[in-house]
Amino acid sequence: MRQLIAGNWKMFGKLADVTAFANAVKTAPAGADLLICPPFTLLERFAAALQGSAVAVGAQDCHPLPQGAHTGDISAPMLAEAGAAYVILGHSERRSDHGENNAVVRAKAEAAIAAGLTPIVCVGETEAEREAGEAEHVVRSQLLHSLPPGFAGVVAYEPVWAIGSGRTPTVDDVAAMHAAIRAALLAQLGPAAAELRILYGGSVKPDNAASLLALPEVGGALVGGASLKAEDFLAIASVAQRG
Ligand code: 13P
Repeated sequence: MRQLIAGNWKMFGKLADVTAFANAVKTAPAGADLLICPPFTLLERFAAALQGSAVAVGAQDCHPLPQGAHTGDISAPMLAEAGAAYVILGHSERRSDHGENNAVVRAKAEAAIAAGLTPIVCVGETEAEREAGEAEHVVRSQLLHSLPPGFAGVVAYEPVWAIGSGRTPTVDDVAAMHAAIRAALLAQLGPAAAELRILYGGSVKPDNAASLLALPEVGGALVGGASLKAEDFLAIASVAQRG
């Protein structure tokens, strides 16, 4: 399976960053599918700067409804109109900062699909849950309750304790979790789930990307901090599997 290398810019980035970053990534040799998810304010600029290239643009959240009196929110059809093809949903920072639970994530995933976007639904355990031996149980439960029936999108496994910490699980732990996620997806969604990409996220850097991306059932990476520099993002993409 051709891997997807997705950059999550979180609440970073200025208008002045867009042109140079877009020019660097759009001329890169295409070893993987590339996606950049900037803050809402840069979405349309990125979409324009990357138009005609193979690099896709995505958002980091959407509201479950297509429109309405919801101050400060942005709907999935609005994202599509701005040029997004993907939307990250249920990131652990949304779950903790905004109290998003699995039911909210599922409603957002349904809204994204209805608007023609590909949702990237994030799951992952906390450090306490891993230490208690509950990591797989927690992730299976998140999948069960966050993914709508017939889900045709991307899943991102991001252990909460690995995000922004410089720590990653061992390659054996990543491989075991991705195998468990694949099994859960097949049980939940049926044979079509064999084709879904399962990304790994959490402190993916140029120096650990090759070992993580070589693992079975790792369909790509969701990259935070290292996606802000085109050079690092491209270094990660350069070791992705072409499938
Ligand atoms: P870092 O790569 O900065 O650890 O962030 C991972 C992440 O949260 C991507 O969504």
